[in-house]
Amino acid sequence: HGTMHIDAKGHLTIGGCSVVELAREFGTPLYIFDEDCIRDNCRKFIRAFAVEEGLGKVIYAGKAFLTMAMCRIIADEGLGLDVVSGGELYTALAAGFPVENIYFHGNNKSYAEICQALEAGIGRFVVDNFAELELLSRLSAERGVKAPVILRVTPGIEAHTHDYIRTGQIDSKFGFTLPNGQALAAAKRLKELPGLEFKGLHCHIGSQIFELEPYRLAATVMMELAAAIKEATGLITSELDLGGGFGIYYTAEDHPQPIGAYAETIFTAVEEAARNLKIPRPLIIVEPGRSIVGPAGSTAYTVGTIKEIPGVRKYVAVDGGMADNIRPALYGAKYEAILANKADRSVVEKVAITGKCCESGDMLIWEAELPQVETGDILVIPCTGAYGYAMSSNYNRLGRPAAVLVKDGTADLILKREDYNDLLRNDVIPHRLVCR
Ligand code: LLP
Repeated sequence: HGTMHIDAKGHLTIGGCSVVELAREFGTPLYIFDEDCIRDNCRKFIRAFAVEEGLGKVIYAGKAFLTMAMCRIIADEGLGLDVVSGGELYTALAAGFPVENIYFHGNNKSYAEICQALEAGIGRFVVDNFAELELLSRLSAERGVKAPVILRVTPGIEAHTHDYIRTGQIDSKFGFTLPNGQALAAAKRLKELPGLEFKGLHCHIGSQIFELEPYRLAATVMMELAAAIKEATGLITSELDLGGGFGIYYTAEDHPQPIGAYAETIFTAVEEAARNLKIPRPLIIVEPGRSIVGPAGSTAYTVGTIKEIPGVRKYVAVDGGMADNIRPALYGAKYEAILANKADRSVVEKVAITGKCCESGDMLIWEAELPQVETGDILVIPCTGAYGYAMSSNYNRLGRPAAVLVKDGTADLILKREDYNDLLRNDVIPHRLVCR
């Protein structure tokens, strides 16, 4: 896992920092982000997608984990950014992210969000539907500018971890559906409307995908659409954005592909289609989120109460849970665990790791293999960097954990721990209740 090691005391280190010491200094639960690992993952994508050769472009999907510090790293590594809300856009702009490299996604962008993005001079609008196309055209024409547009298409390919289907899948809230002709109709309408400039096409076929075939299929189908659009409207697809979804390791059940394998599959499919269809080869864009930040993040907890039901299960409760990582409760997502203060000891028991929220579904791991667990141990769950903090909540009025960025033995705070005052910040007691 990233730059994890065991020090002379037998304690786990991440980015050269002892996790036991990080827990002492910053408290738990604590999100720990390994800077070298984030940067390494960025570089793997930049290399695999031939960004320096001008053939590809990599856009980090901010929904996985976005803070101002993260924006700085992403910009530094030369990636673009995919944002899906005014809040993500605001964060990126506040961090000084180059606006021309920001792509604005979303199936229900508001009037205010479109204005915000137009005024900022956003790099691309990934337009999702006809209503947005009309609204964007009106708002940009009013301002005398041309909004650069990529059309989001639902190609009728849905990839899952273990199977993918290609049907006339019309049942998705996202994008212009390809199989029923909506996508082509959108391109035709775009051509008629003022204030819009067609740049290309987008699709996203799912998340945590380990297979290559759905990407090959998506690339091919999208190139066929590009040819049909050129034929019908003369519009040239100069950018083809194939979304994110590249699978990562969480547990031994997961067998991720090297990034280069995805890149090769996509490049080959696009080149072949360009040749067969006699259309220009577009710039290939990908939008990885999980595969950039997932493996780079870990969560450290302190072990509290331990309840053993003889012959049934041993429940080990930690000081966080579904409020800082809802993925196990929401998706049945699986993780592994390490005891940071006993990292050199061998596995002796199988326990269930539970959180401190008031519901039975607040489980982090059903079967964690660990050394003898005791109250006060520091338990680390690796690979929580993506969609952990991003989907966290204040359920049970728990403050969100702090996050630190570790590198070469130093740790810097990138998110402050939410305290009780933060919890009250937006509370209002109406006057009539105060007066009583
Ligand atoms: N592009 C688009 C248009 C997307 O919808 C997504 C993810 C991505 C890129 C990035 O996908 P990634 O590379 O991270 O797989 N909360 C879920 C994942 C939801 C993904 C939504 N869209 C989870 O925790 O597993």
